[in-house]
Amino acid sequence: MDDLSVDYGNWVPKKMLWILLGIVLVLVAGSFLPVPFFVQIILWTIAALFLFLFFYLSCAYYLFAKNGNELQHNIHHAMIDKLSWNGEEKALDVGTGSGACAIKVAKKFRNSKVTGIDYWGKAWNYSQKVCENNATTEGVGERTNFQKASAANLPFGDGEFDAAVSNFVFHEVRDVKDKREVVQEALRVVKKGGAFSFQDLFLSEKIYGEMEDLLKTIRDWGIEEVHFTSTADLVDIPRLLRVPGMLGEIGIIYGKK
Ligand SMILES: C[S@@+](CC[C@H](N)C(=O)[O-])C[C@H]1O[C@@H](n2cnc3c(N)ncnc32)[C@H](O)[C@@H]1O
Repeated sequence: MDDLSVDYGNWVPKKMLWILLGIVLVLVAGSFLPVPFFVQIILWTIAALFLFLFFYLSCAYYLFAKNGNELQHNIHHAMIDKLSWNGEEKALDVGTGSGACAIKVAKKFRNSKVTGIDYWGKAWNYSQKVCENNATTEGVGERTNFQKASAANLPFGDGEFDAAVSNFVFHEVRDVKDKREVVQEALRVVKKGGAFSFQDLFLSEKIYGEMEDLLKTIRDWGIEEVHFTSTADLVDIPRLLRVPGMLGEIGIIYGKK
């Protein structure tokens, strides 16, 4: 169990929930102004849609949360459990966010040194400071370090790491159109024979193409061992979240370089 004072955030930012609720209130207030009846109907319809979204995402927030269904924590573990590594030397967490996966790797592999990178944009309430605080609170501050960098262009040499993980990041990397290239960049910095485990929306054909083709492409890059598993086979994902855009297309690609 993680320490209670750490802050790993939630994949549904609280800010988003407040914004949705604010929009609903503004629309409802607008409908009480002296406007034609058809405008009132339009405002109520849009308000109802936003209210639905608010309730849906509030449920998702609860399911992801540490004091809710702990889904975020369980999904992190599913990915880390697939990392077939002896835990010696250095690991990288690409798009570390609040440092959750980097810290879990450091806690699982007691001799490891783990680097977490992220560009810490405005979309999330994460920062280098949050990561460092979490790592210190979890007792792995000495063996972790966090730095600002882009997943599209990692500031590391080829084969610099013995292992790499990444969770729910590649599809978000905006400066690369073909998300397979982000996977390739993460694999570039893993040494030959090193382990990797990446979780993302790999079942989305729109983003990654067909699974068989994706796995073949990765093998063609010279990666020795590549496997895929759907996260839904490992973690109990509620039906509500098994939709595209949420967790409906989530899976883990793992193996040895
Ligand atoms: C859904 S969050 C996942 C965070 C963390 N891996 C986790 O599992 O809790 C996506 C993360 O990807 C990061 N990210 C998005 N695009 C990035 C990029 N080009 N380079 C580095 N990080 C990026 C975001 O800042 C955010 O922290």
